[in-house]
Amino acid sequence: MQLQASPQTYLTWTGDGLVLGLTEDSLPLTDRLAELNSRLSGLLQELIDEAEFTGKEGSTAVIRVGGAVRKLGLVGLGKGDGLTSDRLRRGAAAAARLAKKEKCTGLALSFPTLGEDLGLTAQALAEGVTLALHQDTRFKSEDREAAQPSPGPVDLLDLAGQEQGLATAEAICYGVILARELVSAPANVVTPAQMAATALEIAQSHGLAVEILEQEQCESLGMGAYLGVAKASDLPPKFIHLTYRPPGIPSRRLAIVGKGLTFDSGGLNIKGGGSGIEMMKVDMGGAATTLGAAQAIAQLKPRAEVHFISAVTENMISGRALRPGDILTASNGKTIEVNNTDAEGRLTLADALVYACRLEPDVVVDLATLTGACVIALGEEIAGLWTPEDRLAEALLSAADGAGESLWRMPLRSSYREGLKSHVADMKNTGPRPGGSITAALFLQDFVAKGVAWAHLDIAGTVWSDKGRGSDPAGATGFGVRTLVRWISAGAPA
Ligand code: BES
Ligand code: MN
Ligand code: ZN
Repeated sequence: MQLQASPQTYLTWTGDGLVLGLTEDSLPLTDRLAELNSRLSGLLQELIDEAEFTGKEGSTAVIRVGGAVRKLGLVGLGKGDGLTSDRLRRGAAAAARLAKKEKCTGLALSFPTLGEDLGLTAQALAEGVTLALHQDTRFKSEDREAAQPSPGPVDLLDLAGQEQGLATAEAICYGVILARELVSAPANVVTPAQMAATALEIAQSHGLAVEILEQEQCESLGMGAYLGVAKASDLPPKFIHLTYRPPGIPSRRLAIVGKGLTFDSGGLNIKGGGSGIEMMKVDMGGAATTLGAAQAIAQLKPRAEVHFISAVTENMISGRALRPGDILTASNGKTIEVNNTDAEGRLTLADALVYACRLEPDVVVDLATLTGACVIALGEEIAGLWTPEDRLAEALLSAADGAGESLWRMPLRSSYREGLKSHVADMKNTGPRPGGSITAALFLQDFVAKGVAWAHLDIAGTVWSDKGRGSDPAGATGFGVRTLVRWISAGAPA
């Protein structure tokens, strides 16, 4: 799909589908909109009346016009005050879905601007359209995309010269789409080797440094926790480390760490019926987001140095499987009694965090589909955020807000650390069921070096959307790419 920043207005544009984004303040029709209405012989007003369209957020209406424009659509953006990037993004997504449903070939969007900021306006609209129209037909024998084509080209009206905003949107969206496609592909396709191949491909096409550590190298680094999980699989583990180095002296050094379980059976504490085991291909969602963000960052070239790290493997059962009660030694020397083999993500992250901290970054952010407890606490739309640093929390919350992704800060209640005490080792990997996402975060904190600011995002709920929401179609969401890119582009404040 081709997006262009167009100098045309809705008074001059001709083509198949025209969609206007209207706030509640755009009605009754005045000025240019009144003029459009009279040129359309009153059809715009007729549509507003018939559909009882008030500009309410999320409402849509459509009418056949014929002539210079075949279909005219309206998308409500809510109150005129305090229009945000996210409301524009969701409005543009609704416009794109409407145009697709109406089988529009060409499409033009005319939306209000974010004050004077035409660049951010173009970026938000382009993101909404691109993210909403992405459709994954890789595993269909018939090409549904051909049967139900997306509208294109898409003209963003009144936005001449805003190509920079479109380029930014494109880099971000392709990062999100990469993450979505890695998550939605099944575990027999996206294996640890396939994740490593994807990292190599990103590095080659976008000029990042890359290192894939094989099992032997991880052994010599003493990554006993990660390798303990990897043992039962017939597929070799792959530890991924991509590096983006900015031109000039880096403003900061960052590490992004993603949980990369290409499948999580639970291990010998196997997931039973009703546990959603058939969805556990999503358990590499953190790593997928890490790769998607790496691809976007390589193109956007911010001033920070960024390391993208993931200890990829699968959690399987076999004669070599980890036994409940086994004791593992992580690469920082800590010993862990594995009282539950289904709490495997934190074991792989332990060694990934130790590795990341040895790079001496200013900040480490990890993303993980870590706990069902977080899904119970916050549902599908909100990811949990844990960090001891108030400024980092604020910066991530604000980046997420602008990106249209929701985070909620959760407590690192240190007294709950008691729940991880072991009689035989330094710690257990699992605490009691209540507060399960908090003890998981506390476990991770033990593997973060002093002096490194750290934040943990539990994305178990947000990695997938059954029905779709905002600019996300149903399925994998690529959650986190947009927040990370925004935070890093803003200088990664912490
Ligand atoms: N991968 C799961 C968490 C998960 C749940 C991801 C739902 C996506 C959707 C994780 O490895 C897991 O199994 N966690 C256990 C931890 C428990 C054993 C302490 C859980 O949440 O039940
Ligand atoms: Mn598990
Ligand atoms: Zn898992």
